Amino acid sequence: MKTLIITAHPDLEKSRVNKRWNQELAAYPDRIQIHELYKEYPAWSIDVAKEQKLLETHDHIIFQFPLYWYSYPPLLKKWLDDVFTHGWAYGSQGHSLEGKRFGLALSIGDKKKNYTHAGAIGFTVDELLAPFKASATHVGAVMLPYFAFFGSSFQATDADVEQSAKDYAAYVLFHY
Ligand SMILES: Cc1cc2nc3c(=O)[nH]c(=O)nc-3n(C[C@H](O)[C@H](O)[C@H](O)COP(=O)(O)O)c2cc1C
Repeated sequence: MKTLIITAHPDLEKSRVNKRWNQELAAYPDRIQIHELYKEYPAWSIDVAKEQKLLETHDHIIFQFPLYWYSYPPLLKKWLDDVFTHGWAYGSQGHSLEGKRFGLALSIGDKKKNYTHAGAIGFTVDELLAPFKASATHVGAVMLPYFAFFGSSFQATDADVEQSAKDYAAYVLFHY
């Protein structure tokens, strides 16, 4: 069974990090399936049955996105709202996601040192991910440690991005 990457980047053509990550993961077609939400649903009309089937047939699912306003891009939020339905994801008859392993992979524009209580942002990444983690708990999924690449807006050199792609692939394959 492959690892499923649900990725949400509103403008992948202009992306430096997520685009490179997708290229790196594409080298493992036997083990990794990439599902690009903005490419699949340019009109934001999500095929719920298709998405639910996709989730049912994978046990290791990674949500990959650039951090936008300390959260994830809006199509991923709509996807969650539409796909995690009562009677399928939660409720007395909703057990489809129970026991599935959820990972998170984020590219983050700002520096790591700012994502502390004493830093400029004042919150840790773990704290910002609380809504996602609570949602995973709600549907009975198991959260894996997240993967994050900081400084992606300005500080990161091309070599840093290259290294992050290798590290990300290792993260995905480690939890395979
Ligand atoms: C609309 C928007 C909101 C953003 N919000 C944040 C943010 O809240 N925190 C942060 O560190 N970076 C933020 N960034 C920077 C992105 O995280 C960064 O550009 C992205 O991770 C780079 O990945 P990419 O090369 O794949 O686009 C934001 C960028 C945009 C365009």
